[in-house]
Amino acid sequence: MSNIVDMTKAHAKEVAAIEEATFVEPWSLAQVEEICGKFGAVARVAEDTDGSVLGFYSYNIVCGDGYINDIAVREDARGKGIGKALVKDLIYTASLCGLNGLTLEVRISNERARRLYESFGFKESGIRKKFYQNTEDAVIYWLNVGGNDNFKR
Ligand SMILES: CC(C)(COP(=O)(O)OP(=O)(O)OC[C@H]1O[C@@H](n2cnc3c(N)ncnc32)[C@H](O)[C@@H]1OP(=O)(O)O)[C@@H](O)C(=O)NCCC(=O)NCCS
Repeated sequence: MSNIVDMTKAHAKEVAAIEEATFVEPWSLAQVEEICGKFGAVARVAEDTDGSVLGFYSYNIVCGDGYINDIAVREDARGKGIGKALVKDLIYTASLCGLNGLTLEVRISNERARRLYESFGFKESGIRKKFYQNTEDAVIYWLNVGGNDNFKR
């Protein structure tokens, strides 16, 4: 991996392709394009040395907190530390923005993602029953960002 940079419309097609391959209800290309450079949102991509997109994240800023939309790593690039690098960058950008906290929902069965968030100090703060397709529960995670130095790890 070379770099984590702001997501631009030039990245949008690749990001949308990862969305499509990863999520049951993926963001469309138009939704991905909309978040690039949007006021009140942060969207970043991990680029390979050739500039191709290895993974990404985005969050919206709501009342001083970051509400994480998605984090995903391209399937062939998983298990190599890119997810960790993205979460570290996410906490760093949130702290630069002066956010109070970060929150997200994740499928209760998504052990890999849950372990990743927990390793950065995200705490379970609730359950949304049947949040996904009216069948699977979501775990709500919360991380206090003020004074948090997890991004330094
Ligand atoms: C979750 C996801 C972003 C992790 O990205 P990644 O690049 O594979 O993660 P990393 O290689 O940085 O590994 C980070 C941690 O994830 C966990 N992890 C990685 N591979 C795992 C596996 N096969 N089984 C269980 N946990 C695993 C570990 O805790 C790992 O930390 P460790 O190496 O210190 O043990 C990626 O798997 C993904 O895109 N999944 C599909 C989309 C998704 O579920 N997004 C989250 C919900 S919004």
